[in-house]
Amino acid sequence: MIIALTGIMGSGKSSVGRELRALLSCSYIDLDDYIEAKEGCSINSIFAEKGEAAFRTMEADCLRKIIDTHNNTDTLVLSLGGGTVTNPDSARLVHDRTFCIFLTAAPETVAERLSAEASTRSGLAADSRPILHGAHTKADIAARISDLLSKREASYRAASRHIIPTDSLSQSEIAETIHSFIGNNSFISSCHPK
Ligand code: S3P
Repeated sequence: MIIALTGIMGSGKSSVGRELRALLSCSYIDLDDYIEAKEGCSINSIFAEKGEAAFRTMEADCLRKIIDTHNNTDTLVLSLGGGTVTNPDSARLVHDRTFCIFLTAAPETVAERLSAEASTRSGLAADSRPILHGAHTKADIAARISDLLSKREASYRAASRHIIPTDSLSQSEIAETIHSFIGNNSFISSCHPK
C-alpha cells in the first residue's frame, strides 16, 4: 500500500513522512525530492526556468511513475507537494490508488513553522518555495497560505480518506497518530494500487 500525505506547504508532509518511514520501517519518497533528482535541478530553478505549468506536468508524470511502479506487497510513505492534487488527474490517482491523509493546519501555524524552518536555514521560507516568493513577513506568509487554502482545500479533501488536524501536535506526535491509526484500521492495507 501507499500512504500519501497531502496538505499545504508547512503542514508537515515531509518531516512527518520521514518519521513515519522510521516507525513503519518502510520505503519513503518525497515527491519534490524525486522530481529534483530526476530533473537534476531544484524546484526553484524549474519554476524560474520552465515555469509552473512545466513543473506541474513533471510533478504529475513523476507521481504516476511512482504509483505505477510500486508493488502491492510493500508499504511506501509518499509525501506529496503542496500543489500536487490541484491537478485533477493526479488527485484521482492519489484518491484511487493510495490511502491519502490530509494534514490540516491554520495559516498562522504554517507561517510559524515555515519561519522557524527558514531561520534554521538562514533564509526566508520563500527562498526555497517559489509559491511564496514576495512573502517577506510571517503576516505575508499567513495571508498567502490562507489564500492558497481557500483555493485548494476542496482538492485536498477530495483526494484524501482521512484528515488529521495538526495545529497542536509536534511532527513526532503527528507521525505517531498516523502510525496508531494505521495499526488500528486493517482495511487500510486493502488500499492497493490497482
Ligand atoms: C508547492 C509546494 C512545494 C513544491 C512546489 C510547489 C505548492 O512542496 O511542490 O514548490 O504549489 O504548494 P511542499 O508543500 O512540500 O513545500
